[in-house]
Amino acid sequence: MLNLADHDSFTRGVPHDTFARMRAEAPLHWTPEFAGQRGFWSLTRHADIVAANRDPGTFSSAQGIRIEDQSHEEYLARRTFQETDPPEHFATRRIVQGAFAKPVIAEFEGVVRELAQDIVARAVRTGTGDGVAMIAKELPMKMLGRILGVPDADLDWLVEKGDALIGNTDPDFTDTVLDKVDTDAYAMMPFRSPAGVELYDYAEDVLDGRRPVTDDGILRRVMDATGAMDRLAFKNFFCLLVAAGNDTTRYSIAMALYLLARDPALYNTLKTGDYFDTAGDEFIRLASPTLHFRRTATQDIEMHGQTIRAGDKVILWFVSGNRDGAVFDAPDTAVLDRPSNRNLAFGQGGPHVCLGMWLARLELRVVLEEICRQTSALTLTGEPSWTRSNFICGVKTLPLTISP
Ligand code: HEM
Repeated sequence: MLNLADHDSFTRGVPHDTFARMRAEAPLHWTPEFAGQRGFWSLTRHADIVAANRDPGTFSSAQGIRIEDQSHEEYLARRTFQETDPPEHFATRRIVQGAFAKPVIAEFEGVVRELAQDIVARAVRTGTGDGVAMIAKELPMKMLGRILGVPDADLDWLVEKGDALIGNTDPDFTDTVLDKVDTDAYAMMPFRSPAGVELYDYAEDVLDGRRPVTDDGILRRVMDATGAMDRLAFKNFFCLLVAAGNDTTRYSIAMALYLLARDPALYNTLKTGDYFDTAGDEFIRLASPTLHFRRTATQDIEMHGQTIRAGDKVILWFVSGNRDGAVFDAPDTAVLDRPSNRNLAFGQGGPHVCLGMWLARLELRVVLEEICRQTSALTLTGEPSWTRSNFICGVKTLPLTISP
């Protein structure tokens, strides 16, 4: 079994064999202390992850949500509402959730369509290159700008900083690699990253009116809401959106491109046009871009013949639950019309279920439709490269030829 605490275990893609063995032989698995970080429990079966995710009283988000250890001061400095439990969690979530509701997001379909048409058309003209840069990165980036309400001119910079946060363990995304260099100077910053400092400055400028934001963007709405966030909460929320609202959808689109290019029969099935309503979720299931989120046990818990002690870190490996054969027939195969796709990629079932879920799904559907409409074949010209991270399943590059 590969060591899940080690980011190098993920540099050739997700170690699905290790997760399959854990589901079968060690459904509650202990990884001992590694690289100066406390050990942790792993839950890998779908049913166990769902149960824990539904029970924030026992499996709390309020001491950190990634494997990294944090002092209480670091936790307080960096937390967003994602790192809180009900009822405190809902007090903030209720300020922002309206803007992400399904019917509100549905109104963006025209904008998404226009952007996707243009992105795919340009990729077709380019023909051969990196599918991530040509297609997967573009749409989420542009939509992030629309959702936040910031100028397009700022997007390249924001995305670069978002990548540095999410990819804080990959030398291609940051010089300050979390487990390789001393990051103590950034302990109070999002993702313990210098990019967090720069994003804080940007958010300060927004708060103080030095940077323009549109009236209908989420940043303006949050600043104007009654019971609005204080400055620190706003800055952390901004960083969360720049990170979460961008890479995850990019990597879902990239995974879809990869699977379609690898399997012409799958591409031809999608091209029939019969599966656009369900295909997106299936690609997101197989991508599982956020591999895990962490909880902390608030009491001793007996499980699978072992005891999780109060205070222990418990990792919910959504990526593993998403390939659990007890729930999914042919779990490693893309089944475009999978009935009742009970996938966990968005943290479904728990209070923290992804706010951006409807946006990500809309982007996936529309971009898949445009790819099928404008292309006749996708051909791999090499193998993908993967983000060095046990937190994010990132298709970093995807050598591809796109035929008109
Ligand atoms: C395919 C794309 C995406 C995936 C796989 C994904 C995954 C997730 C997951 C698993 C959670 C639950 C975290 C937990 O349990 O602590 C979550 C929460 C969240 N996501 Fe996403 N996400 C995606 C896209 C987005 C987008 C596009 C946005 C915003 C524009 C976004 C914003 C958020 C926020 C704000 C939360 C915190 C919600 C809360 O704590 O109540 N996500 N996401």
